[in-house]
Amino acid sequence: MKSAPDWIAHPDTPYLLIDEAKLKSNINYLKQRVESLGSHLRPHLKTLRTLEAAGYLLDSKSAPATVSTLAEAEAYAKAGYTDLLYAVGIAPAKLKRVAALRQQGINLHILLDNITQAQAVVDYAAEFGQDFSVFIEIDSDDHRGGIKPSDSKLLTIAKTLGEHFTGLMTHAGGSYACNTEQGLKNFAKQECDAVRIARNNLETAGIHCAITSVGSTPTAHFGEDFSDISEVRAGVYTTFDLVMKNIGVCDFSHIAMSVVTTVIGHNKEKNWLLTDSGWMALSRDSGTAGQNRDFGYGQVCKIDGSVLDGLCVNSTSQEHGVIELSDAYQLEDFPVGHQLRIMPNHACATAAMHPVYHVLMSDGSHNTWQRITGW
Ligand SMILES: Cc1ncc(COP(=O)(O)O)c(C=O)c1O
Repeated sequence: MKSAPDWIAHPDTPYLLIDEAKLKSNINYLKQRVESLGSHLRPHLKTLRTLEAAGYLLDSKSAPATVSTLAEAEAYAKAGYTDLLYAVGIAPAKLKRVAALRQQGINLHILLDNITQAQAVVDYAAEFGQDFSVFIEIDSDDHRGGIKPSDSKLLTIAKTLGEHFTGLMTHAGGSYACNTEQGLKNFAKQECDAVRIARNNLETAGIHCAITSVGSTPTAHFGEDFSDISEVRAGVYTTFDLVMKNIGVCDFSHIAMSVVTTVIGHNKEKNWLLTDSGWMALSRDSGTAGQNRDFGYGQVCKIDGSVLDGLCVNSTSQEHGVIELSDAYQLEDFPVGHQLRIMPNHACATAAMHPVYHVLMSDGSHNTWQRITGW
């Protein structure tokens, strides 16, 4: 492994570090995979939420992308991106902001799964002479929202939307609870089958469905056939994280995000290292706790990124992290001032704690990226 360049030692810790070479490789792998299986990606920009990352994920300003907030949609629209799916059910009060973007020529698609939302869209459209582009959310795995593919409400909502109806979207978030290859393949098929059934039901009723959109990082990596699916969404694959490692989608070596931290003290009786990265830097996400391997609040690595086997952040307070050393390690190996990297449980949550990211570029140089914040 390339040794850490000198600049890593300079920003005050804790700071979020992105490894550009890994980021690029993760992005290229999934793009080629999905295209070879007959579809294309609509990447979810929510993990890094920066204009720079969008530049890596999208080939052009008109390429399809997914966002999780209107604040992101507004920022990407301002930067010239024109095809954005806001993939969280629409709150009627937000239609004004959606309309403002559509009036600027942005094809901002919205999502809904109930008749109250659909009626709010058509009422707004009628009052203001506004066109919308609406995806109906399909429930493929009893995980969150959405309508079951054969629920009669699907036809009612599509008919209510009329010309504003564009397509069907599903997200198998339940796949995060899976960790076998066959299980993940089954989830990916289940996701596709749900929109296939829903599309068929609509088309039998004479309603054209222009776009079918599926995806999560696990299902995008394990799906075997996307040839009759318009697009596949995934987000956290850009950097991956420990939750994805436990699921079996990636290995430590693919994780492109870490938090650089400094040892600030020792508890000799307990064999603990104290660091300056608490939950304000790592997030409170303990998503690996219910998985096959619990990484506490993150896997500890050397500053060069190599994994220190068996060491994780065992507990956090606001600005402190506690690493309990196993017998394989000595406190003296980690003097005060020593820097370490922590791999995140959930990259989206950890990135959200940092307004600025430090990026280790493939050529060893250093960049900073600003995060788009808010809703
Ligand atoms: C609607 C939707 N699509 C796609 C994704 C991306 O999934 P992942 O984070 O597994 O890449 C998410 C994640 O929350 C989502 O909510």
